[in-house]
Amino acid sequence: MENGTTSARAQWSNRFVFILAAAGSAVGLGNIWKFPYVTGVNGGGAFVLAYLVCIACIGLPLLISEFLIGRRGAASPSASFARLARADGHSPRWSWAGNVGILAAFLILSFYSVVGGWCVAYVIEALSGGLSQSDGAATIALFGDLLASPTRLVLWHTVFMLMTVIVVAGGINRGIERLVKVLMPALFLLLVALVGYAATTPGFEQAVSFLFAPDFSSLTIRAVLVALGHAFFTLSLGMAVMIAYGSFLRREVSLPRAACAIAAIDTTVALLAGLAIFSVVFSTPGLEPAAGPGLVFQTVPLAFNDMPGGRFASILFFVLLLFAAWSSSVSVLEPVVERIEGQRGLGRRRAAWLIGVVTWAIGVLCALSFNVLSEVTLGGKGLFDLLDILTTHILLPLAGLGAALFVGWRLSAATLADELGHAAWIPLWRQVLRYLTPLLIAAVFLFNLRDLFFT
Ligand code: PHE
Repeated sequence: MENGTTSARAQWSNRFVFILAAAGSAVGLGNIWKFPYVTGVNGGGAFVLAYLVCIACIGLPLLISEFLIGRRGAASPSASFARLARADGHSPRWSWAGNVGILAAFLILSFYSVVGGWCVAYVIEALSGGLSQSDGAATIALFGDLLASPTRLVLWHTVFMLMTVIVVAGGINRGIERLVKVLMPALFLLLVALVGYAATTPGFEQAVSFLFAPDFSSLTIRAVLVALGHAFFTLSLGMAVMIAYGSFLRREVSLPRAACAIAAIDTTVALLAGLAIFSVVFSTPGLEPAAGPGLVFQTVPLAFNDMPGGRFASILFFVLLLFAAWSSSVSVLEPVVERIEGQRGLGRRRAAWLIGVVTWAIGVLCALSFNVLSEVTLGGKGLFDLLDILTTHILLPLAGLGAALFVGWRLSAATLADELGHAAWIPLWRQVLRYLTPLLIAAVFLFNLRDLFFT
């Protein structure tokens, strides 16, 4: 049994930094490229509406549950599950749900750090003027060249991993808090500046209607399931992160209020980022909002190329992207470090470096899967893609399901009342966790599996 003592456990200095840290986790690459893109292909405004409903009906209830498990358990995510289960007379084997989330976090970190490395590389390119090539083909080729270069990929991945480990090694107060207190306000300012810039471009109006004009005819079941899956990912659910962050939270803080604030920040950032990105993309004739990494690493730099002040704006954009990735990567390292911290006398610092080295090594293999190891595939997919699929399609839903079922069916009413009081929404919330959340998670899960095997 792992160690998870409550004595002298660190705590967030105040509610505000907790919200910054959790929002820092939630606001990531998912908000800046994935949300705008999936919104575009799934019917714009109608999809945004579906997404908001998913955040409110599934995201929020689950976010509150994860915070609750963490705060009440006051230990590593898996130990928190075990402790709460035992306290309410159930099997401590519920720790599986925490362990699945921790495994997801561990694997996510290894490939996310490679993407974080791309962000570092692009900040440097943007600063040195490398992104403002006169010729569009050169800007497009830049990304291809980066992926083709094992040394550069590994180098930047290493830099990003170091940035992540150094913060987590410092602990909650001296590491993560200090980072997010600077990063999150900066991120927000950068975003506002970018949206201000975007508002001056000719594509702004088109971007507004692209994102907000609802076209219900394109809102398929598939789109709703995509909205649901994204609501999950964007709130960092199912990766033990919110449980870990909740475990440092003081009792006075209202969990539902904090969860609402975090979901609101996350959604606002996603919408603003979408506005900024599509304004510049639509301002450049001939550019299409491409899918995936191509959108931020090729289309956006190309769009900035032709714009007045574009060089400056592209610096802002990539610094923004890097900050968003950094505060997310820190958050996925945290639960993994907590899982092994204290075992065999392992201190925080050593635990952070140990996990850092192991995830770094897996990340190196992911980076190489773009070039020298590109032949090593399973079902046509390299390690980078495989880890992405394994985590987002399988491990996250599983861990989320565990949290929903656990809080829905296993925790006693007394435990819940002690954490949340007797608010009128609690019985409804519980029914949602018991039936609706598991049902919808199962639907997304099956849908993803079908996609995986039949497309
Ligand atoms: N919520 C993050 C996002 O939107 C997801 C994430 C968190 C990914 C932590 C990796 C690490 O990008």
